Amino acid sequence: MARILVLNGPNLNALGRRPAGHYGTMSLEQINQEISKKAAEFNPEFNLEVEFFQSNTEGELVDRIQAGWGNIDGIIINPGALTHYGYSLKDALIDAAVPVIEVHLSNIHARERWRSRSVIADVAQGQIAGFGWRSYTAAIEILAGLIQDRGTGPG
Ligand code: DQA
Repeated sequence: MARILVLNGPNLNALGRRPAGHYGTMSLEQINQEISKKAAEFNPEFNLEVEFFQSNTEGELVDRIQAGWGNIDGIIINPGALTHYGYSLKDALIDAAVPVIEVHLSNIHARERWRSRSVIADVAQGQIAGFGWRSYTAAIEILAGLIQDRGTGPG
């Protein structure tokens, strides 16, 4: 059994109403359903439990990460604009000491200059950006693989 925490930061609760050219038309709820469907593909041999949390407040994201200490095996996070300046979020991810995948719906490297800098990137195992909701389902597949590799070493 493995537990994965899927975190979304500020304004991602408004998906579906944000500019579709960058973020697509799906609501966060619909994206979470796609993530759950993908996670279910790994069951029953590899029981993947996914928890979802969104907040517009950095401190609440930090609290949720701390609450998962010791019982979370990996984190998928779209930090929203906190990507670019969220140092307490960054510290919480370091302290969690589990694999982290940073995801973005849009390609943050092909937009305004300030978006291309992520303060989270160097504490994440990797970043997936630019594939809309599929950035999240790609992340769950990769994270499940990484967790499965535990004990046998990276494949
Ligand atoms: C985002 C990109 C960020 O720059 C922006 O502030 C967001 C969403 C994305 O998923 O593309 O809110 O993280």
